[in-house]
Amino acid sequence: MSDTDQYIQPVVWHENRLRLLDQRLLPEQTVYLDYTECPPVAGAIQDMVVRGAPAIGITAAYAVVLSALTHNGKAAAHEMILDDMALLQRSRPTAVNLAWALARMKALLDEPAPVSVDSLLTEANRIHEEERQANLRMAEFGTALLSDNAGVLTHCNTGSLATAGSGTALGVIRHAYRQQKIRRIYATETRPWLQGSRLTAWELAQHSIPVAMLCDSAAAQLMQHGQVSHVIVGADRIAANGDVANKIGTYALAVAAQRHAVKFIVVAPVSTLDPKTPQGSDIPVEQRDSGEILSQEFGEGVTAWNPVFDITPAGLITAIVTERGVIQAPDSRKIAEML
Ligand code: MRU
Repeated sequence: MSDTDQYIQPVVWHENRLRLLDQRLLPEQTVYLDYTECPPVAGAIQDMVVRGAPAIGITAAYAVVLSALTHNGKAAAHEMILDDMALLQRSRPTAVNLAWALARMKALLDEPAPVSVDSLLTEANRIHEEERQANLRMAEFGTALLSDNAGVLTHCNTGSLATAGSGTALGVIRHAYRQQKIRRIYATETRPWLQGSRLTAWELAQHSIPVAMLCDSAAAQLMQHGQVSHVIVGADRIAANGDVANKIGTYALAVAAQRHAVKFIVVAPVSTLDPKTPQGSDIPVEQRDSGEILSQEFGEGVTAWNPVFDITPAGLITAIVTERGVIQAPDSRKIAEML
């Protein structure tokens, strides 16, 4: 059985259509939306129909194929596709996998010979398959890092829904659980969008893997009680010095982990490493609508501060797991060597 048979597919290319599993409706409803043009896909990324850094990158690659299908044969096709790519690029700023996938698609467009839809589709499929394979390798490398009887805490959703493969952090956790290296899995609800209590809980339940959910604010207490040996999370962008942008709340977990001598492991494919961004403070952090936090309008005076990612300094990270291997105590030199 291939890994595509085992895992939920959030991004599907089918007969010149892109099908996205609408993650806003999970776990209550499993609804796929069909896309035949690029701009609505940029909207879907912005609106979180699809989310998670690798899944966003794969989606963007297929959206470029849709753009080529739409504009094929027009005199200004090349410029129109580039315009669509710029729209995709703006849809979510933090996850570097988006820019990475678009750069790969643009390399084909930059070739002197006119680009064919087929070659763009081949490249999008290749990006998708490479990410799937990377997930499987990271699961092996990450599992090897765990001591037996581990108590693992994860944050956000980093499984199939976020990667279109077996997952990054959740891929490691699933694999390690099957290898009987994990005693207990804990997952934060991940406010405000509830990627943990809606998506991670759902994914683990689909695989009959038990999980204990907790409020984000209970995590430090859980560590203080000695229940956690490893925090395992994904990343949206890793700067050249090893600083990590990930779901808001990751930094707080890293601080608490250090206080309680808990290992802090980041699992991310090489497509998430961004050598062009020197350090975490250079990473653009997306701010989302206050409506995600405030359930009603209070009028003037009540506003919300809603950054959806934070930056964890490299110094708080025990190891970064990639498909090429593990970087212990990450720093600029080790990241450059990995790349
Ligand atoms: O806002 P989201 O749901 O797209 O945020 C997702 C995360 O922060 C994940 O941890 C990250 O993309 C890594 S997923 C493999």
